[in-house]
Amino acid sequence: MKEQVLPAEGKLGILLPGLGAVASTMIAGVIATNKGLSKPIGSLTQTGHIELGSGTGDRFPLIRDFVPLANLEDVVFGGWDIYEDNVYQAATHARVLDQRLLDSIRPELELIKPMRAFFDRDYVRNLDGKFIKQSATRWDAAQELIRDIDNFKKANNLSRVVVIWTGSTEKYIEASAVHETIASFEAGLKNNDAAIAPSMVYAYAAVSQGIPFINGAPNLTTDIPAIIQLARKNKAAIGGKDFKTGQTLMKTVVAPGLAARSLGVSGWYSTNILGNRDGLVLDDEENFKTKEVSKLGVLEDILRPDLHPDLYGDLYHKIRINYYPPHGDNKESWDNIDIFGWLNYPMQIKINFLCRDSILAAPLVLDLALFADLAQRAGMYGVQDWLSFYLKSPQTQHGVPAENDIFKQLNTLKNVLRTMMQEEPLDIPALTATQETVPAL
Ligand SMILES: NC(=O)c1ccc[n+]([C@@H]2O[C@H](COP(=O)([O-])OP(=O)(O)OC[C@H]3O[C@@H](n4cnc5c(N)ncnc54)[C@H](O)[C@@H]3O)[C@@H](O)[C@H]2O)c1
Repeated sequence: MKEQVLPAEGKLGILLPGLGAVASTMIAGVIATNKGLSKPIGSLTQTGHIELGSGTGDRFPLIRDFVPLANLEDVVFGGWDIYEDNVYQAATHARVLDQRLLDSIRPELELIKPMRAFFDRDYVRNLDGKFIKQSATRWDAAQELIRDIDNFKKANNLSRVVVIWTGSTEKYIEASAVHETIASFEAGLKNNDAAIAPSMVYAYAAVSQGIPFINGAPNLTTDIPAIIQLARKNKAAIGGKDFKTGQTLMKTVVAPGLAARSLGVSGWYSTNILGNRDGLVLDDEENFKTKEVSKLGVLEDILRPDLHPDLYGDLYHKIRINYYPPHGDNKESWDNIDIFGWLNYPMQIKINFLCRDSILAAPLVLDLALFADLAQRAGMYGVQDWLSFYLKSPQTQHGVPAENDIFKQLNTLKNVLRTMMQEEPLDIPALTATQETVPAL
């Protein structure tokens, strides 16, 4: 595949529907990094290494030296929002980053102004921004978004664009007939069918132009047959959904460990408080349901109660998110895990994670954008399930069950990179080392 990976020549545009806390934190971080003011901690593409060869550990390049990723200096940001705030104002409002850091890059941030959003308040009841397109139908909105992307590309002299949804969580919907085929979806756009969520209109605009689209919210968005078919037809990389940060990150680290030791789990109670705009949106039951569904599947997929009924057959899993403004973006999560061991003796694990939501999400947005661009240049299109490492509820190809174990996900991601560059995939490096130490008989 190596010869087929086109080089990252020219500039890459990263377009973000939703220039809120996560997007502004990511953009400010990249600008600060480029100016030598900060380091891109938490970003695998910028700081991670990859082991190559037979597992002896002597070839360990940086990922960004191994695969041809876009350089951070060659990235240009843009996006849409229902509020007119530029990125300096959005970042100031989000109160994630230190004001002195924001002021030191203020001119660069102020230059990034949102384009008018396509919005339907029925999907996000707790927000009422007015900076929205007055499109007669969803079809018209899609055409306007396509023009926005095109103008942005020309104005910034870009060679490539990727679109990453960093917009709000929409209300819970399930796929229906209008989402079934490209033809039914396009008819639905023209009829302004209310079952087509705004995020799907953005996805359609990007994918219809062969532009990669990744969904960072738990919305249905790209997880419908029509967008999957369109992605295959137009050779666009797609993926989703919901950035894997905070509590779910911890869950997918701890659960594989418990499963590895065959320890039973009878209950897992997870609760959160957060006070940012995302928390406000999730305070609405219909929007919370979208998030809840995305978070709930993780344990079942990792623990496999179908295979281990004695260990996980009666697991009670409960998730709550509570809007609590005083904490702002500094989400606090508690997990109470009831486990049991030898002869069913019960034990408990308590996790209290005082995290920062957007600080955890920002590097994921950057990595997803750079990897989606890489996939596109490598001729990989359709659902990119190798990027599930970054996602809470990974979309998979052809209905294959999702992998949620973070360690397996990382292994898969790295093996895709190795294969892309014609290196041997590594499955269990330690095993290779052990075999070498076994004396010849
Ligand atoms: N921060 C995390 O740890 C994390 C983890 C997983 C997923 N997410 C998801 O990422 C998304 C962004 O989170 P955030 O904290 O930045 O939220 P935010 O509320 O600060 O930003 C979202 C922005 O999207 C805008 N928006 C809403 N609908 C839009 C539309 N149709 N078009 C354009 N813009 C629109 C809103 O006005 C808002 O400014 C949310 O969906 C959230 O659930 C965040």
